[in-house]
Amino acid sequence: MQYSQQVIDRFKNPKNAGGLRGANGIGKVGNAKCGDIMKMYLLIDENEVVKDARFKTFGCCAAIASTDVACDLVKGKSVEEALKVTNKQVLAILGEMPANKIHCSVLAEESIHSAVEDYYKKKEKESKKAVKAD
Ligand code: FES
Repeated sequence: MQYSQQVIDRFKNPKNAGGLRGANGIGKVGNAKCGDIMKMYLLIDENEVVKDARFKTFGCCAAIASTDVACDLVKGKSVEEALKVTNKQVLAILGEMPANKIHCSVLAEESIHSAVEDYYKKKEKESKKAVKAD
């Protein structure tokens, strides 16, 4: 099976590639087997809504396309809703993917979780600091 046109288009022209200034949730995940690495940058506002999302992926065409779609899927969502984004949703947008590339979309889902986890860790640190200062 070959890549769908959507995968090729996203790979060639990702909308969300790059870092994100002010990102307060940064996730990093990788796959030991293929060696690919994804970084997800989230900018989450005080209402816990994802205002922006960007990515840097060092990996295959499917990984780049999947993270690009994942960024689109989390933008405008609450953090809780963003955590519900799945690789199946990513695949629904990208179309069929070769079986040995499904894990690339799973990695995109995991990158969201990792970024949200980082956001919560930072938030907890901040609230501890605030308590100490009182
Ligand atoms: S081959 Fe591993 S993320 Fe694509």
